[in-house]
Amino acid sequence: MNKITIVGAGRVGETTAQMLAEAELCREVMLVDIREDAPQGVALDVLQTSSFFRFDTRVSGSNDPAAMAGSDLIVVTAGVPRKPGMSRSDVLEVNLGVIDGIVDNALQYAPQAMMLVVSNPVDVLTFRAWQRSGWARGRVFGQAGVLDASRMASFIEMETGFSSRDVTTIVLGGHGDSMVPLPRFCTINGIPIEHFISREKIDAIIKRTRNGGAEILSLRKNSSAYDAPAAAITSMIDAIANNRRRIMPTVAILQGEYGAEKIAMGVPCVLSEVGVELVVDLGLTAEEMALFEASAAAVRADIARL
Ligand code: LAC
Repeated sequence: MNKITIVGAGRVGETTAQMLAEAELCREVMLVDIREDAPQGVALDVLQTSSFFRFDTRVSGSNDPAAMAGSDLIVVTAGVPRKPGMSRSDVLEVNLGVIDGIVDNALQYAPQAMMLVVSNPVDVLTFRAWQRSGWARGRVFGQAGVLDASRMASFIEMETGFSSRDVTTIVLGGHGDSMVPLPRFCTINGIPIEHFISREKIDAIIKRTRNGGAEILSLRKNSSAYDAPAAAITSMIDAIANNRRRIMPTVAILQGEYGAEKIAMGVPCVLSEVGVELVVDLGLTAEEMALFEASAAAVRADIARL
């Protein structure tokens, strides 16, 4: 990729810029933020790590949305984060105005770009961005499941002591308390986790995964998670920039898959140079489908507020 713009130079945006630059996933990273001087300062700080990590990625910052011109991809991390005790839905109203403004700027300055939405509530904001942009659904998608799955994987690693290289997990549904971890598809080097972990402990891991973001927020107190979110974003961009065709849980616009439409939800997608190339419809069991439906109902309740 030539240019990636990150809108929002907060902690997630900054850490993502650092990871993209280190991995040289594009020639240029542009940080855009409405806070005066902030994106310029963050960009300089990141750029000054280049001699340690030996990257040639150009990193700069701007308060002017016109700086997103020529972007191949726009990553949206802007908006207010939730405070301890708040749900992701509690920040919907404020962040709706934020996403609308960003989409309008993208339409004006980077009409050929793809958009990766990270701000919360991510399912609803991804849906809104798709609706407002009028872009094909493959070009507008969100990050949630890669992070949720990485949290679940880390809990499995902690429980079993096995290598992170061998743990595979899938988490579907909305990025909220009703998300749907699918233990049936979770393995350690292909071996179902049930072989190593009791049902009781798997249930505890599922519960902790659902609460993963809130757990970190309640411990950090003044900040949501940002290291793992930035790594999740970077791995999705790596799949796209290198046209890897990886299967990753992605917030995608559903058009009949999983029996759902007019909604954005976390489902396994093939990520390639075109963005979401394919939505993989897994064929869930009745029990899994009931959980997925409950999660869809929670997302629909928020979409109804648009
Ligand atoms: C989390 C928030 C940022 O999951 O959604 O950490």
